[in-house]
Amino acid sequence: MGTDKESKTSFFHRSKNDSSFMVRICTDDDLERVKQVNEQELPEDYPFFFYKSILDNYPESFLVACPKDDFNQILGYIMWRVERTSSKNSLRLLNKGHLVSIAVSGDYRRQGIATVLLAKSMPEIQKQNISEYVLEVRVSNYSAINLYEAFKFKTEGIKKKYYKDGENAYFMVHKLNEN
Ligand code: ACO
Ligand code: ZN
Repeated sequence: MGTDKESKTSFFHRSKNDSSFMVRICTDDDLERVKQVNEQELPEDYPFFFYKSILDNYPESFLVACPKDDFNQILGYIMWRVERTSSKNSLRLLNKGHLVSIAVSGDYRRQGIATVLLAKSMPEIQKQNISEYVLEVRVSNYSAINLYEAFKFKTEGIKKKYYKDGENAYFMVHKLNEN
């Protein structure tokens, strides 16, 4: 039972800080539902073993959002992996945190879920000794581009016909230790 004070607080502070969702680490049991969210929200689908291998290799940065009153429902997810590639101007190999995929179910957008997923996963993948975060995004995906810019990603180039349907991708980078 809520006291009078508590109910006033929840009434007056319905903000992004007092949200109805929570973010936790993904488990094996969530993967089928994560795959469903992906298939509903993005044209790029992956086989089950792909999710499973990301979860096995990078579990701390594979996060899901659920309603506070139903931890089994999945409203959104984020997954990262680490890639070791040469840097632009040298042969030195660098670790990069690659944002593989993020999506939030249509009905639950614009509540700050993606923001929390990014804010909580970026420090986790950073622990893998990465020098930058990278991602590709459809050039038409304004919502996602706005979101990434809010996290200090900058467009570094275009990957022509990156997607199966021929759309170009922006290659966006957030370098660490630069600000
Ligand atoms: N229009 C403009 N800006 C938007 C929009 C929109 N519709 N949605 C989000 N943003 C930007 C805004 O800057 C927003 O901040 P604000 O609400 O204070 O203005 C900011 O992103 C954060 O919004 P959130 O509420 O945290 O984002 P949400 O939980 O709605 O999820 C997401 C954003 C993941 C892009 C969602 O729209 C989605 O799932 N889209 C379909 C899947 C997708 O495109 N994923 C990214 C593919 S690229 C990749 O995965 C590497
Ligand atoms: Zn990618």
